[in-house]
Amino acid sequence: VANEKESMYLVSEFANKFLNHTLLETDEGKAIGLTYFKERGFTLEIIKKFSLGYSPNSWDAFTKEALGKGYKLEFLEKTGLTIVKEDKQFDRFKGRVMFPIQSMSGRVLGFGGRILTNDKKAAKYVNSPESEIYHKSKVLYGIYHAKQAIAKQDNCYLVEGYTDVIQFNQAGIENVVASSGTALTPDQIRLISRLTKNITVLFDGDAAGLRASIRGIDLILEAGVNVRVCAFPDGEDPDSFAKKTPYDKLVLFLEENAKDFIQFKASLLMKEAKNDPIKKADLIRDMVISISKIPDRIKREVYLQECSRIMDISEEVLFNTLAQLDKKEL
Ligand code: CTP
Ligand code: MN
Ligand code: MN
Ligand code: MN
Ligand code: MN
Repeated sequence: VANEKESMYLVSEFANKFLNHTLLETDEGKAIGLTYFKERGFTLEIIKKFSLGYSPNSWDAFTKEALGKGYKLEFLEKTGLTIVKEDKQFDRFKGRVMFPIQSMSGRVLGFGGRILTNDKKAAKYVNSPESEIYHKSKVLYGIYHAKQAIAKQDNCYLVEGYTDVIQFNQAGIENVVASSGTALTPDQIRLISRLTKNITVLFDGDAAGLRASIRGIDLILEAGVNVRVCAFPDGEDPDSFAKKTPYDKLVLFLEENAKDFIQFKASLLMKEAKNDPIKKADLIRDMVISISKIPDRIKREVYLQECSRIMDISEEVLFNTLAQLDKKEL
């Protein structure tokens, strides 16, 4: 089994080299893939740093090349690079631009492939399947390039997508990783918490991004990690925003808009509940639930005070609610 995993790593590394080479050195790759990335504002330097690629628009160009080089079909199939159907072999990522997903130590575990058109009928991204080397719940896109900066800045920006990570890096902000569109998991948070106890959630400025940020908060708090949330303007994501914002302004925006989770939840109230007492009560309960996830007693007390102050409700009532929640958990 150890050998099997090693074979899967090797074929993934070969695929990475092939796809990157196809992007940078072939006519098709340059005309289609490289043009696409340049239009998105990616420089050659950043394309190389993240080893982006292009998968030829052919049913089996990659698979044939790999088999010809002696890689076994078994491992091409197990990594999902090749799809086998009725004894025929197909490249999973045909005609897509490619984002290799690396482990903390830089090994290639899998890929995300983006379609080049805005065809709403086709999946925008196709990803490698879960496999013996690629456990999606334990991986964060960009962690290999971010780990040093995360430790140095003592903060990690958490975004949704591949392009958010890349555009931030290009802007000079390297302490950034992506959950790649899936719900954040405790394993992913543990990965970050080895490097820093501060996470700033930067999800897309749409309803889905907002929901995902809210879901992420309690999970992060439970891991004993401090969480801030920075909302982006409607319709913007970190990629689109960073692309059109000069570095100084981007840094200023992040500093000014990254709110502590309590402030973030309070600002939701201002937007959604306004003066509706029922909604306000619901939101206060929701804040106390978040606070109850914090393992550190002193931090809890500080947040209770803060919640009492912003929501204009007595600390005693909040304290009792928290005590009730604690009892239920037992
Ligand atoms: N995602 C996915 N499959 C999809 C859509 C999204 O795996 N069909 C994942 C990808 O990792 C993607 C992330 O979710 O990067 C965020 O999704 P979205 O915001 O829709 O995409 P963007 O990253 O903004 O990509 P782009 O700017 O290219 O549209
Ligand atoms: Mn395993
Ligand atoms: Mn989105
Ligand atoms: Mn997005
Ligand atoms: Mn985007």
